[in-house]
Amino acid sequence: MSSVSDNQLANKAQAWSALFSEPMSDLVKRYTASVFFDQRLWAADIEGSLAHAEMLTAQGILNGDDHAAILRGMAQIKAEIEAGKFDWKLDLEDVHLNIEARLTELIGLPAKRLHTGRSRNDQVATDVRLWLRGEIDELALLLNALQLALVDVAAKNVDVIMPGFTHLQVAQPVSFGHHLLAYVEMFSRDVERLGDTRRRVNRLPLGAAALAGTSYPLDRERVARTLGMEGICQNSLDAVSDRDFAIEFSAAAALVMVHISRLSEELILWMSQSFGFIDLADRFCTGSSIMPQKKNPDVPELARGKTGRVVGHLMGLITLMKGQPLAYNKDNQEDKEPLFDTVDTLKDTLRIFAEMMGGLTVKQEAMARAASKGYATATDLADYLVKKGLAFRDAHEIVAHAVKAAIAQGLDLSELPLAELQKFDARIESDVFELLSLRGSLNARNTVGGTAPDQVRAQVARHRIRLAV
Ligand code: ARG
Repeated sequence: MSSVSDNQLANKAQAWSALFSEPMSDLVKRYTASVFFDQRLWAADIEGSLAHAEMLTAQGILNGDDHAAILRGMAQIKAEIEAGKFDWKLDLEDVHLNIEARLTELIGLPAKRLHTGRSRNDQVATDVRLWLRGEIDELALLLNALQLALVDVAAKNVDVIMPGFTHLQVAQPVSFGHHLLAYVEMFSRDVERLGDTRRRVNRLPLGAAALAGTSYPLDRERVARTLGMEGICQNSLDAVSDRDFAIEFSAAAALVMVHISRLSEELILWMSQSFGFIDLADRFCTGSSIMPQKKNPDVPELARGKTGRVVGHLMGLITLMKGQPLAYNKDNQEDKEPLFDTVDTLKDTLRIFAEMMGGLTVKQEAMARAASKGYATATDLADYLVKKGLAFRDAHEIVAHAVKAAIAQGLDLSELPLAELQKFDARIESDVFELLSLRGSLNARNTVGGTAPDQVRAQVARHRIRLAV
């Protein structure tokens, strides 16, 4: 058998071509190729290859000259890609074969030795993990920036009263700052979840080779250390086929978007004429081509919509894995586009939300008006009666009657004269009016995690310490 020429890899893209008697059709080439999306993995691919080459050299499998040539060739390839001068070829199927073929063009034989003890199966799994690890770190920073933006708005609005809702019915007055800090809690859990996922992303498949391990004396731990990974995947079959880490990430990302979507829905409601609680800066809104009065909250609406695609990607990935036999299957090439789109969507969304929250206009009077309309302090009257010795259930019943009477007269509870209130219970005295005020109600909820301004200020301080880097 004649030796494979350097060009053969470059031209035919098929390291296995000697076995094949007909070329791949253009349609099949296009169908099976991934280079036009997986080229995004180029930096991880080079990083993984360099760690592999360093280890092969330390183990005496490559010599020092081979290693030097590989370093030189990869440096040039990196420069070419960064300059946009790298010629990505569909014929070469994917990012791995494109880079390997170019390396072969540049340095010849040592490039062909690089793949010793390695397969694209463990190579691609390593690349995706390295890439995702970096993206998780960026997402954590963006989530922290969004939390800080929310904490800043919360700090300015600790004493601003809005109606708190359950069932979207006015329930009890809450601090607007407190309301925003609820989202800070969600996003802080998102960071925790991503950090936890990162530990399982950050394990090394290389050394598993195609599926069974390799006959070369590789030092896998050394490669893991070079790449800053926390350990190696311990079963070669699992190493090349596991995409749990991608599914887990995707689930964590879907939850981030669910939180964004909840916040979006509130911003949209609050900006509607019926609520009128806030205004978003014009640069985050659009007008209507037909209705001159319109200012639409496009950014939160789109974010709410994009939540669908990120949740969809989770469904795609988890379905991709369902029923796959061990070990690597080409199905797994389909993991990339959903992952890439998930990361892109999250990054843009988090950036835009951090900016948008900073530019929020809060309409205090409208919030207070809405809070004073829904009998939001009825619980406070019941609590007052409990302090006078009534059982809570009885107090609840008495207040229900008082609310009914107030509704009939079109008044708030605090607007009923004392004599009228005393008809419902003689123990009611003039000190009740302080409690029936929105502010009195707010101040009373002074348990840890409650909405009393002192508590909210303490939470703002805690978040600021936690988020300071
Ligand atoms: N482009 C492939 C992927 O993304 C790389 C691995 C291909 N391995 C193989 N045996 N065909 O999964």
